[in-house]
Order: sequence, then structure tokens, then C-alpha cells
Amino acid sequence: MGDKGTFWLPESASTVSGDVDSLFYLVTWISVVIFVLVVAAMVYFMMRYRRHHAGQVGAPAHESKWFEMSTVVVSTILVLIVFTWGFRVYLKLNIAPPGAYEIQVTASQWKWDYTYPDGTVYAGDLHVPADKPVRLVMNSIDVLHSFFVPQFRVKQDVLPNRYSSVWFEATRADTFDVYCTEYCGNQHSGMLGQVIAHPQEEFEEWLASAGGGGLSPEEYGERLFGQNNCNTCHSIDGTRLVGPTMQGLFGSQRQLVSGESVEADENYLLSSIVAPAAQVVEGYPPAMPPSYGSLPQDQLDALVAYIKSVQ
Ligand code: CUA
Repeated sequence: MGDKGTFWLPESASTVSGDVDSLFYLVTWISVVIFVLVVAAMVYFMMRYRRHHAGQVGAPAHESKWFEMSTVVVSTILVLIVFTWGFRVYLKLNIAPPGAYEIQVTASQWKWDYTYPDGTVYAGDLHVPADKPVRLVMNSIDVLHSFFVPQFRVKQDVLPNRYSSVWFEATRADTFDVYCTEYCGNQHSGMLGQVIAHPQEEFEEWLASAGGGGLSPEEYGERLFGQNNCNTCHSIDGTRLVGPTMQGLFGSQRQLVSGESVEADENYLLSSIVAPAAQVVEGYPPAMPPSYGSLPQDQLDALVAYIKSVQ
């Protein structure tokens, strides 16, 4: 597992995180030294030049060209060091090495979808090969999101109608946290995931089994239900959350806000996922985002199969 981080920073696990941390500590220590010098001078002057009796008038101050010039020169040099260092780290953070493994990232309320070069679409967790540069090309199908992996020191806004990208190289096979760091709606704080870095061979095995291969539609649907964070709004045990529970849903009569009553058959389940605003059930807010309509058809089929099975 290696370095578990410090009081100031989380563990460091990418090829750029060491550089980011050095820069952070440089700026921190410069600030600490200047703070101590300023406070010490202030305390010294308070004691040295305090008024001893009422009516005492201070002696006029004389400027010291030497002192003034040296503070200007020293602070300019410090700022230039921080700038040069920071700019080098910035370039390293922003320019992916040629030949990096590319994964397409689609953000939506409130999940991350990852599309691999072979066409596999995987929701929730990002699986990557360790010790290999990985470049993420990201966009959003609804609002602003932001992709953040603290242990890699990479963070990038994800926007609709525009691609943004980040790259990283995990320095070991392990599991790291992904956060959305741009407020994107009421389930923003639940828009979490993990980066799972595998050794190369294990990654290839994972990719081969990442679709629904080998699973029944219900099992695949159950996995997708968790990966797509459906469970943050829909329980499977009858508990009332933001949206209706899935328990006993299939085959039941649904009272809609339009006054109609419909049977929850397969078509109802599918249309409730892809066009949730079309048939809103009475007693619940129309809170489900339409983003799930972008799931591939085989994943929608699997979700419907799973919801049918929750009795
Ligand atoms: Cu997506 Cu916050």
C-alpha cells in the first residue's frame, strides 16, 4: 500500500504527485519563514519602540535604500522560483505523454461512465492499467462536473459541449478515490467512484469480462443498478427514498400525477429510465435526471430485467 500520506496531503500515487507535493511544501515553507520573520520583527518593534510616558514623540524614521532594495530583490527572486517551478509542474500535469491509453469519460447527474477503446461502457469505477500513462477525454451530457483524484493530484472540470482532459500514471496497483468537485445537483455528494489500477495482465482480463459477459441479465442489471448509483434514490427493500422503491414494482398499478393509472410493465420500466419526466408517479418529485437514456440498449435491457426480479 505504501505511503499513506501526511497531515497535509493524502497519499501520493501518481508520477506527477511528487512534483505537486514538492511545490506545495516549497510555497508552504516560504510562507512559514516569512510569517515568522514578520511576526518576530513586529514583536521586537513593539517592545523596542513602545511609548514610555505620555507625550513622548518618536524619532523620525530614516529610509534604508539597502534594506528596501534587498526586500524587493529577494521577494522577486522567490516569486520567480515559485513561478518557474509551478510552470514546469503545470506543463507536466497538462501534457500527456504520447501513446497514453485513452478512455472516454462521460459525466452526468450523478455518475461517471467510462468508454474503453474496445467500445466497452462501464459505469461507476474507473479501471486502468498501473504503471502506464492513461489519458481521460471527458465531457458532460448535462451540467458542470469536475473529476478529482486526490491521490493522483489531478483535477479537471468536465463540461457539456466541450472536451477537457487529464492524464495520470498510477505508480502502483491499488484503489483510489474519485470525487466530483463541482456542485451538480442534489446528489452531487454521492457522485463518487474509485480508480482501480490493475497490473497490465489483470487489466486485460478485467476488460475482457467488463461487459455483461457470463452474467445473467438479472445479475448484470444488479451490477449496473449499483454502478449507476440507482440505489441512492431507489431502495430494493421497500424503504422510501427520493424515488419509489423497486420492491414489488413490476406488475403493480401506478397512479400518475396526470391522473392516469398505468401498469408497471416492461415498457413502463424502460420509459421511466430513458424518459423519466413522461410518467411521474404521484407523491414523488420529478427528480430523476434524463441522463440514463444514454445507456447502451443491452444495459437498459439488463436493468429492466433486474428491476422485474426485485419482489
Ligand atoms: Cu457531478 Cu458534482
